[in-house]
Amino acid sequence: MTTHLSYTPEVARQTRAIYDRVRHVIPEAEWGVHAPYVAAINELKRELNAVLLVHNYQTPEIFHGVADYTGDSLGLAREAAKTDADIIVQCGVHFMAETSKILCPDKKVLIPDLRAGCSLAESITGADVRRLKAQYPGVPVVTYVNTSADVKAESDICCTSGNAVRIVESLGVDRVIFLPDQYLGRYVADQTDVELILWEGACEVHERFTGQELRDYRRQFDHIRVIAHPECPPDVLAEADYVGSTKGMIDWVGDHRPERVVMITECSMSDNVAVEHPEVEFVRPCNLCPHMKRITLPKILHSLQTGTHEILIDPEVARRARGAVEAMLEVA
Ligand code: 13P
Ligand code: SF4
Repeated sequence: MTTHLSYTPEVARQTRAIYDRVRHVIPEAEWGVHAPYVAAINELKRELNAVLLVHNYQTPEIFHGVADYTGDSLGLAREAAKTDADIIVQCGVHFMAETSKILCPDKKVLIPDLRAGCSLAESITGADVRRLKAQYPGVPVVTYVNTSADVKAESDICCTSGNAVRIVESLGVDRVIFLPDQYLGRYVADQTDVELILWEGACEVHERFTGQELRDYRRQFDHIRVIAHPECPPDVLAEADYVGSTKGMIDWVGDHRPERVVMITECSMSDNVAVEHPEVEFVRPCNLCPHMKRITLPKILHSLQTGTHEILIDPEVARRARGAVEAMLEVA
């Protein structure tokens, strides 16, 4: 249904203020391709009372051009829980859209590309969690939100990278089953006395970084600060000046205004944050998340125009999963 869109003088006028913000990360020639979509999406979402929830890993033309809310998994879940829009378009990956649907069962939740998955969510099924619960009876299950609704439905409480330690400690027990990210799990285990029973899941993007790579940045670049996401392996986190969720990393740059920084996470983060901080030099080696990159402006427009792809979850699974997500939102 997407018709050919052109970069007319009217589109240039409508999108000028947005381009002025992003001009040092998006070349002008490229803006001519993005701008007609930015204008069409912003108009259509108003007509439809739709809200665009955009993860920090989305490309700058999405993040700065069409988002109503940007954030980490926790922030986007909070926004979904309180929105009064009729339609939520999740610009992120499938588990994020499912989390929105779990929290808003009566709203239409759309994802522009159903194939936007996640290696962590793929690493575990509801049946795996049932087997673990049988193996460790009575031990509560703490599940990272990077999982399917089926897995959340088997869990006592969810967590994100932004609140994992608080969530684990909130249960007041000596031992928890912590799923499915082994690296986030090891990072949490280092900061708490609670024993964590881990799963072998990993993020295909963050597991590729190495401690040696970080030491090389420090050797190559004077005064560089290194900040990393807790999905990275332990030898990487050991080299970092700060470890936190995507929002935590963004806030850290805003608070510290380093002369030079490298963000050890998905590629688009540096571009998105650089828009706000032209005074900071971002060293930009990064790893790309192929799932996040499936979301594009033409697909967002198509999603709004056609009402696709709608996220549907079995109501009983959604009800049980909602218990785990809401338990998390009550704690942190
Ligand atoms: P955040 O919740 O920190 O944004 O992380 C989500 C994610 O998928 C990281 O790879
Ligand atoms: Fe999943 Fe990793 Fe991509 Fe995040 S970056 S969505 S954890 S594969």
